[in-house]
Amino acid sequence: MTAIAIHPISGALGAEISGVDLSRELSNGEFDAVHQAFLDHQVIFFRDQHLSHDQHKAFARRFGTLNIHPYVKGMDAHPEIMQIIKEPDDRVNFGGGWHSDMSFLEEPALGSLLYAKQVPPYGGDTLWANQYLAYETLSDGMKEMLGRLKAVHTAKGEYSERGHSAQKRGAMDVKTAGDDVPSYEQPVVRTHPETGRKALYVNPAFTEKFVGMTRRESLPLLNYLFDHCTQEGFTCRFRWSVNTLAFWDNRCTQHFALNDYHGHRRHMERVTVNGDKPF
Ligand code: SIN
Repeated sequence: MTAIAIHPISGALGAEISGVDLSRELSNGEFDAVHQAFLDHQVIFFRDQHLSHDQHKAFARRFGTLNIHPYVKGMDAHPEIMQIIKEPDDRVNFGGGWHSDMSFLEEPALGSLLYAKQVPPYGGDTLWANQYLAYETLSDGMKEMLGRLKAVHTAKGEYSERGHSAQKRGAMDVKTAGDDVPSYEQPVVRTHPETGRKALYVNPAFTEKFVGMTRRESLPLLNYLFDHCTQEGFTCRFRWSVNTLAFWDNRCTQHFALNDYHGHRRHMERVTVNGDKPF
């Protein structure tokens, strides 16, 4: 058996893992090594994996129960698998803005496992940003103030008729959110339930305002935080190849799918692991 090896891809976060075949059931030792790499690096990548839909889901299930997306229709035979496809004629991609997956749920996603089926000849990279670093680099005064605040998260903006996520794409079936879309309050600084580290937890896609304030009052500070938390020094950028699986931790990262490959097809499949209520 090849030994598991970990190769960081930037100074901020992200590592490629080699020596693991995810189509098999991992031994407890292998699972512990992968789990630790996930906690240490926040997003991990496995190239050259040959996964059936069941194998993709089985690996994800080792980390928790699987989510069925409330707006994006999954595959008929595998409702937990979302196909994220940009056809050559589509202009809008999915995930093309900084966000943490499903922060609009009361119990947002723990992690997402994205598997590359078809990649464009250039472009289509994904960026991630380390939200522990985003928190740790704030001043003590700002940390203290944000530590007392909660923010309202909702899918209202993104999945409303004019929202980016709800835009029509040739091969994706995305439902438009109605007026009854719920909102949930989440701490602005969350504590990671496994590492105990604090991370900034606001994102431009789903964070509407601070609790107890109007959106207008909230925006100057929110916009400052959105800029701060995605600055270059906190990021990594990943160039996809077919059959790569990425697994990221939504509790301490945000990500952004670049839309720079018009005229080419990109096809990914995502399984999302449910998380718990942030604290
Ligand atoms: C997503 O936001 O889940 C999609 C990321 C990507 O397609 O790179």
